Amino acid sequence: MAGRIARSFIDDLVSRVDIVEVIDARVPLKKAGREYEACCPFHNEKTPSFKVNQQKQFYHCFGCKAGGSAITFLMEYDHLEFVEAIEELAKHIGVEVEYEEGGRSDPEQQRLQKEAKTNLYDLLGQCDRYYRQQLRQHPRASGAVDYLKNRGLSGEIAARYNIGYAPPGTNIEQAIPGQTEQLIISGMLIRKDDGKTFDRFWHRIMFPIRDSRGRVIGFGGRIIPEQNGENSPSAAKYLNSPETPIFHKGRELYGLYEVRKALRDIPRLLVVEGYMDVIALAQQDINYAVASLGTACTTEHVQKLFRLASEVVFCFDGDRAGHEAAWRALENSLPGLQGTQQIRFLFLPDGEDPDSMVRKTGKQGFEELIDKAQSLSQYFFDHLREGISRHDLEGHRTLIDKTKPYLQKMSDAAYKTLLIKDLASYTQRDERDLHGLIGSGQGPEPAFNSSPPRVSFSSSNNQQLPPSLVRTALRCLLFHPPLASELKETESLSQIDQPGMGLLLDLLDILKTNPTLTTAALLERWRGTIEGQHLAKLATWQPTLNDPESLQQEFLGAIERLQAQHLSARTDTLLAKANQGVLSPEEKTELQTLLSRT
Ligand code: CTP
Ligand code: MN
Repeated sequence: MAGRIARSFIDDLVSRVDIVEVIDARVPLKKAGREYEACCPFHNEKTPSFKVNQQKQFYHCFGCKAGGSAITFLMEYDHLEFVEAIEELAKHIGVEVEYEEGGRSDPEQQRLQKEAKTNLYDLLGQCDRYYRQQLRQHPRASGAVDYLKNRGLSGEIAARYNIGYAPPGTNIEQAIPGQTEQLIISGMLIRKDDGKTFDRFWHRIMFPIRDSRGRVIGFGGRIIPEQNGENSPSAAKYLNSPETPIFHKGRELYGLYEVRKALRDIPRLLVVEGYMDVIALAQQDINYAVASLGTACTTEHVQKLFRLASEVVFCFDGDRAGHEAAWRALENSLPGLQGTQQIRFLFLPDGEDPDSMVRKTGKQGFEELIDKAQSLSQYFFDHLREGISRHDLEGHRTLIDKTKPYLQKMSDAAYKTLLIKDLASYTQRDERDLHGLIGSGQGPEPAFNSSPPRVSFSSSNNQQLPPSLVRTALRCLLFHPPLASELKETESLSQIDQPGMGLLLDLLDILKTNPTLTTAALLERWRGTIEGQHLAKLATWQPTLNDPESLQQEFLGAIERLQAQHLSARTDTLLAKANQGVLSPEEKTELQTLLSRT
């Protein structure tokens, strides 16, 4: 696998690109005071609440809460992956993306890796053309063609999905000569222990899998049932490309590229299990289905889906396996789910899959089923309530216990509140009690209480209370990162145990070595984390008095008060110990120093 993109490269890129220019080229901006604005491209509105701040290199919509750096904007607006967005920005300012391998970055190795990948894309593109040609002209292809016709596929749909045919025998090496090693790396050719090579796909119907840019990155091959002889009866119904430098099953979704080509706006995406499901739905003019490639839907899949549509409907068979897959999809979706995103679940009657179903119901009937699909909450509680007696206290308590770990992993406060509301009605409890029991922060600022946090903001934060000192310091820094250099030392801060302190120290640390980072570049460090979401919210803050001096005062004032609070709390602790006569000699000296300060 290619290395990660060098952190310093991202810093540099986000500083060199002008976000105003990037956004303005796609959504014309108007100057409004110190910022630029437009009607938000991510939700429907008549008056502009979408603001772009050139100094922070950061955009934010006060309506739908979208926001981030130029990278985020391209990911959201152009539906690009993280790496693609970076490549796009790099191209825009005319530089090459720097990757690093195991912490080092060797330009020659990078160049070779990039070249090797380019060759693989190229090679699979050639395989794809070869298989399509074979479907049209190979003498044995008629079985494949008949099979596809019998399953109701038109030539037009077969062409849209680039369906092909891998003939029996060893062919691919002759079809694409001089590329044996590359064919092995790409998974199309297998080398046996005795050194002989043979084709992976052999007398199969070929489904090319394309990435979001339409490049072929792998294949699925289906057995052709009625012709015996070439495939042994025990052969798997489907064979897929193995993981390769350009193909990762946990990341790709079959049919996504085709959906994007068919639809300009994608209101919802349907996730099904199989290649043939996607194609059969498209055949009935349902052009928004994708399939996870025989694996469970991963967090990465879900993120990819929500980058394109705000509603995702998971469609599964009604059997046990279908329910298991659905629950796994739910588990992988829940933690990252945002308030604007909707997930629903459609279970088909036993024995049906989307392919068989849509052929019975037609487009309209199938879409009626989709419209009636269960909401996330319905499915979530139905599943958890299975086997619990619903009406007694004991049952209610069990349900709360079962629900708790899931809710605690959720990062979106609004979504969590929604589920807690339903939990309250199932268990006849007060919503506020449940918030307390589950330990979730209520209100506009989410609590920092889920997994790996070094930091934890207290959950009792409430809009009426003034922001904590740590928050004040954080938002001043995010408004104007160079403030960090005003602090002589951060050592004394590291002693302070306050929610969010770890984050503040990390921020200061980064700015010490990279004093010129913009707000957006800083936020990039926390991409995809709960801390990042929190920082992004703090980054939208505007000081009432917008002059450098008041800002500096506010920042340093907060830091000083934090230090003072810490020292007086420490003094109290030591005094209490002294009263009990349990002070160690070191503590005694410390207390004397502390007392002599005041
Ligand atoms: N799959 C696989 N390997 C198998 C069986 C299935 O990779 N041996 C994956 C394929 O992506 C397949 C999906 O799981 O499309 C769903 O499998 P299944 O429901 O068995 O196949 P269908 O898509 O219904 O295929 P068909 O209708 O052609 O029988
Ligand atoms: Mn099927």
